[in-house]
Amino acid sequence: MPAPPTDLPVDLPPPWTREGHRDPHPWMARMLEERPVAFDPESEVWHVFRYADVQAFHRETGDWSTARRMQRLPEEERVVRLLTTDPPDHQPLRELFSRAYRPRRMEGMEPRMRGICVGLIDAALARGQLDVVADLAAPLAAAMIRDLLGVPEEDESRFRVHFETLGELKSEKDPESRMLLYMGGATADDHRAATEYFRELVARRRAEPRDDMVSDLARIPAEDFEGQLDVGALLNEQLGAGQNTTVHLIGGMMALFLEHPEQFEKVRARPELVESAVEETLRYASPLQARPRLSARALSIHGAQIPDDAQGLGWIQAANLDPRVFRDPLRFDVTRSPNHHLAFGYGEHFCLGAWLARRAARVALQEWIARVGDFEPLAASAIERVPDFIVRGPARVPVSVTACA
Ligand code: HEM
Repeated sequence: MPAPPTDLPVDLPPPWTREGHRDPHPWMARMLEERPVAFDPESEVWHVFRYADVQAFHRETGDWSTARRMQRLPEEERVVRLLTTDPPDHQPLRELFSRAYRPRRMEGMEPRMRGICVGLIDAALARGQLDVVADLAAPLAAAMIRDLLGVPEEDESRFRVHFETLGELKSEKDPESRMLLYMGGATADDHRAATEYFRELVARRRAEPRDDMVSDLARIPAEDFEGQLDVGALLNEQLGAGQNTTVHLIGGMMALFLEHPEQFEKVRARPELVESAVEETLRYASPLQARPRLSARALSIHGAQIPDDAQGLGWIQAANLDPRVFRDPLRFDVTRSPNHHLAFGYGEHFCLGAWLARRAARVALQEWIARVGDFEPLAASAIERVPDFIVRGPARVPVSVTACA
C-alpha cells in the first residue's frame, strides 16, 4: 500500500504564520479531514490532529515523552518540573502538590475571587469601559495564583509574572525563518528571577509556615528532594502554567460573546448555562492549542511512519474540533452537551489547576451577568491575538459597559 500523504497543504496557511494565526479553525478542519498526521520538514515536527490520536499522544507516555525534550537542551537549561518528567519519576513529584491542590483549599479561595471580580467590574462600570484582558482577567488570574502559592501582598512588587512564548510565529521579514517550539528550559531572566524569589520564600516559610502551597513544599525535608529538585523552579512552573492560560480563557470567552451576542443572551436568560459556556469556550478557543512531546520509539499512526526521537505536536485545538466526537464542531454553542474537550490535557499530566481555572471563569461570568447591562466593542477592528501559536488568546478586549438597570 502506498504511504499516506503527510505533507502540509500549500493553499491554506498554518497557524504559525501571521495569516494562518488569525483563524486557525479552517486549517484544522482540513487537517482533521485529509491529513490526520502531517510532517513539516521546515521545523522537523510531526503534527497529530484527531481526537483519539491526541488523547493517545497524552496518555501513552511510552510512545510520546515529555522528559526527552530536556535532552535537546544544554545542561544548564535543564530543569526538573512536572511538565518535563515522564513516569515513573512524574507521579511522586505530582504527589508533592496534592496537598496544595486539595479541594477544600480551592473551595476556600472562591469568596476572594468573587470579591476581586466584583471590585474590578464595579470600577469598570464607574469608568464606563474596560479592557477585559488587562482590567479583569489578568488581575483576577494573578491574585488567584498568588493566593494559591501563598505570595504575600507586600511582595507584589517583587513578584513579576513572566510571559514565555511557547510557539514562535514565523517571521514575515525573514522567509527562511521556521516556527520554533519552546522546549521547557530555564533561560529567560524573568524565569530565573521568579525561581530565585520562590527559593527565598520557601526558606521564609520553613521558619514560619502558613496554609499555602509554598509552606506545603517547605515542609518536605530537603533530603527528599535528593539534591536534584529545585523547589523554586517547581513553584515557578505553577505560575507559568496557570497565569496566561486563565487570562486567555476569560479574555477569550468575552471576545467570543462579542462575536456571538445571541450566545451571551442565552446565558443571561439561563444563568445555569454559565458552566457549559465556560466549557464551550475551552473547547472552541482552547488557551493551550497544542502540546509538544518527543517520540520515545518509532511509531506508525494512520500509516505515517514517525521515527524514534522525533518532535511531535499534539493539537488539542484540532482534537476539540473533531467531527468524529463533536456535532457541528465549528459552531460556538453554549448549550453543548456532552462536551468532553481536551483543553486541560489528558492522562498523566492532566492540568492540576483545571478546577481553579474553571471556577475563576465561572465567577467572572456570573458577576458580569449580575452587574453589566450592555457591553459593546470599543474598537471597530477584529480582535488581535497574542503572537504565539501554542498559547492562544486576545491581547486586548476593549469594551464600553453600562450597569444593569
Ligand atoms: C484555562 C486555563 C488552563 C488551561 C487551558 C490549562 C491547560 C493545561 C494542559 C493542556 C496541561 C497538560 C500539558 C501536557 O500534558 O503537556 C496542563 C498541565 C498543568 N497545568 Fe494547567 N491549564 C490551565 C490553568 C492552570 C492553572 C490555573 C494552574 C495552576 C495554578 C495550572 C497548572 C498546571 C500544572 C502544574 C500542570 C502540569 C501537571 C503535570 O505535569 O502533572 N494550570 N494545563
